[in-house]
Amino acid sequence: MRRARHDRLACGPLTGQVSGMSTVPFHLPHFTDADRDAAVAVMDTRFTTMGTHVAAFEEAFAARHGRAHAVMVNSCTNGHMLVLRYLRGPGGWDEGARAVFPAMTFAGPSFQAAHAGFDVTFADTDPATGSTPVDALIEAAGTAPTILAPLGYGGIPLDGMDRLIRFAEEHGHVVIEDCAHATGASYADGRAVGSLSTLASIWSFYPTKVVNATEGGMILTDDADLAAWCRSARLHGVNKPVGDRYRSLKTDWAYALPIMGHKCNPTNIQGAVGLSQLGRLDTTLARLAGIAGRYREVLAQAGMHTLDGSERGNQHLFVLRDTPRAALMEHLKNHGVQCSVHYPPLWQMEAWGDRRWDLPGAERFAEGCLSLPIYADLTEAQIAQVCDGLLSFDG
Ligand SMILES: Cc1ncc(COP(=O)(O)O)c(C=O)c1O
Repeated sequence: MRRARHDRLACGPLTGQVSGMSTVPFHLPHFTDADRDAAVAVMDTRFTTMGTHVAAFEEAFAARHGRAHAVMVNSCTNGHMLVLRYLRGPGGWDEGARAVFPAMTFAGPSFQAAHAGFDVTFADTDPATGSTPVDALIEAAGTAPTILAPLGYGGIPLDGMDRLIRFAEEHGHVVIEDCAHATGASYADGRAVGSLSTLASIWSFYPTKVVNATEGGMILTDDADLAAWCRSARLHGVNKPVGDRYRSLKTDWAYALPIMGHKCNPTNIQGAVGLSQLGRLDTTLARLAGIAGRYREVLAQAGMHTLDGSERGNQHLFVLRDTPRAALMEHLKNHGVQCSVHYPPLWQMEAWGDRRWDLPGAERFAEGCLSLPIYADLTEAQIAQVCDGLLSFDG
């Protein structure tokens, strides 16, 4: 009974269904009874805003990645916002300093860099992987200090991250890693993506992500000053969180505001759900790997291509490249399968005004990429339906 209600609420019914055919939504968030119990348990405490459940998730996430500090926020985008604003603080980076982003990514982080006064530019994509390679980021770095924001697209670890970090250290650049896709991904030598000594790695727990805290983000860093600033700035800049003020009759209501902060704290419900999902991350990864393996076999038969190196990733996305996208999407839709696109060309969006970038690799990739449904709740029948759709495409 409980599960049926949950299934409807997860995404709402998929409208526009093909008659006589069951449908495969592009995504359904995976929530277990343990996740739901964790959320309700927070409500039962009556303390739903940021408190001990957030702290517990932070501690577990930092430990999994071997990093000194974790600061949870309400989104990956706002994690970038805080780190970038910290860098632009008193005595910090000049207005107009360059910030280099990968071309194939979501808007949030680069928009925050622009809001914080950085001069945003994009580096080109390898059309075989969807990622901007480390060498392209290095090439785009100026002689003046530059922010470099690598992303392993789709959760495939980037080659050469150690080299990028060394290059940045030698030239006074700063690496802020976008780990929105990376939860659970590891390099070939076993180190977790996000565990390297970048200034910060920033994570997303948006509902489509491998760990879904209903929404949320995390900043991981080894820099104690940055962590302390973000911890305060995520909640207006108060020096004493509400939980510390009202814990007992002996504690004090008073607080000070040493900095002018923001409002992007997470809730204890997000902390509790995130921690619950993190606890079963390895099971989730195994399930996604199994689905991706099935898709890979079918693609080989169908003569289609996924991303080079995709088997090394966490399978957060399963992306086909160089497809005749409109025709394939239409065909899959007629098969009851909903797909998506990661991403429409961010560098061509109207929001950038007159700015233009020449990014031939990204243009080719953006034209032909198509993301198949991949999530833990896909049934065997749904996976078979996607595979049948791919095999019956005559493109
Ligand atoms: C690559 C990438 N970066 C950043 C974000 C922003 O994440 P959030 O929605 O948690 O702000 C996303 C979200 O989809 C993303 O895919």
